[in-house]
Amino acid sequence: MSTENHSTSRASWSGQLAFVLAAAASAIGLGNLWRFPYLAAQYGGGAFIAIYLILVVTLGFTLMTTEIAIGRKTRQSQLTAYSRLHKGWGFIGLLGTIIPLLIVPYYCVIGGWVLKYFVVYLKMALTGVNLMGENAVDSAEFFSSFISAPFAPFAFGLVFIIACAAIIVLGVKNGIERSNLVMMPILFFMAIAISIYVICLPGSGAGLKYYLIPNLSSLSVDGAFSIQLLGKTILGAMGQMFYSLSLAMGIMITYGSYMRKEDSIEKSVRRIEIFDTLIAIIAGLMIIPVVYMFAVKTGMDVKEAMNAGPGLMFITLPKVFATLGVAGPWVGLAFFTLVTFAAATSAISLYEACVAAVCDLLKIERRSATFFMGATICFLSTFSALGYGPWGDVTLSSAFHAIGINGEWTNGAFFKLQGLDFFDFITNSVFMPIVAVITCVFIGWIKGPNTVIDEVSADGHQFKARGFYSFMVKYIAPLLILAVLVSEVCRAFKIGGWSI
Ligand code: PHE
Repeated sequence: MSTENHSTSRASWSGQLAFVLAAAASAIGLGNLWRFPYLAAQYGGGAFIAIYLILVVTLGFTLMTTEIAIGRKTRQSQLTAYSRLHKGWGFIGLLGTIIPLLIVPYYCVIGGWVLKYFVVYLKMALTGVNLMGENAVDSAEFFSSFISAPFAPFAFGLVFIIACAAIIVLGVKNGIERSNLVMMPILFFMAIAISIYVICLPGSGAGLKYYLIPNLSSLSVDGAFSIQLLGKTILGAMGQMFYSLSLAMGIMITYGSYMRKEDSIEKSVRRIEIFDTLIAIIAGLMIIPVVYMFAVKTGMDVKEAMNAGPGLMFITLPKVFATLGVAGPWVGLAFFTLVTFAAATSAISLYEACVAAVCDLLKIERRSATFFMGATICFLSTFSALGYGPWGDVTLSSAFHAIGINGEWTNGAFFKLQGLDFFDFITNSVFMPIVAVITCVFIGWIKGPNTVIDEVSADGHQFKARGFYSFMVKYIAPLLILAVLVSEVCRAFKIGGWSI
């Protein structure tokens, strides 16, 4: 175990299926569950899904293939992989390693929230008492008092981090691979069971239509097709695809570095895409029809009820579950079990990307690296865990004011982001697109697409999409990613009326 990460005897997955499962486990996470259904609902159901699918098989395919090939070729995690390929380009690895290091602490804080809800639903299922008040009317109050408490969010986050560390310390095969074999089938089973239950509920048809049938009116203004809305939909789908496929975070490089030469990268990527997209679509089936019915029943606007992120998961869904009668707590329990596993497997991949970076750089044992990273993550997570409570007022803006910088610009939206939202913005919206663009330029123009093509074709595999790949990595991918970067920054600084 201890030497698993040394390049001489690098750990490896036991086979192609294990690799696909691990990468899919990373990809399937909160993004699939709380963001995809929301975006689909906002952007015209089937129309959004179609655009998303096209992006996954083109841009997503290009980026994921690139990362996995870089990992397998160099047998390094991203911190050291780029410098192995080219001395002068090691900085991308450094920049890229900062991303999982910044994401994993807040992802674990959210993991802690999910764990808390798992425990709450377990109690509710066993006792039959709704802890969020009659019909969960107090779900918003329940949630905000939990996340703003001084100690509880940190404690749940800590338990979550320790659980991930316990798996990582066991190594690639004995830890990550084995735990996926347990968690992923349960996740799939629960997701399918809940969606069948929801589809069979009387009255679910309207919500299903709302979700699946392309609603072209969401792409038009006053009956006329709007290019601007189409652009917005494509950008929304692209941002989601990045996050959902765990791209530009070094994870696919790290996981690729454990891949065996005899396994096919091209086929693996296709399978990972299928798994990830399937779960995203199933998440919509679980969530949209019930939220739709709930909105109709309570006279709410469907788009308003169908919010994203924590609001959907921790406030709206508990209310929706409470309308399901005796089945409610059990559906809630099944739902939060699957969310816990989805969050855990994604957090493990982020944590592993950091551990592998430290192992490769310092050539230390996995056990020490896991411990060192765990302590770092705990420390960094306090900023997010306390950011809604005792440290609620800590923002860049307040920091500037404290040191006497009081310019009007320090009051902009970006400078007022609280702990968790701040980390979320700089990683997902700024660093990730930057790393992805530089990677495309590096592979497309400096090293040449053959670096990746040769690796994908290693061991006699045929790279069917090689021509398409070269074209994408050189021309289309960098342009599309730049568009995401610009739009995200405009959105954060409220330039040009971006609202989503
Ligand atoms: N891909 C994961 C999701 O869809 C998110 C994730 C982010 C995973 C960062 C790993 C790292 O939720």
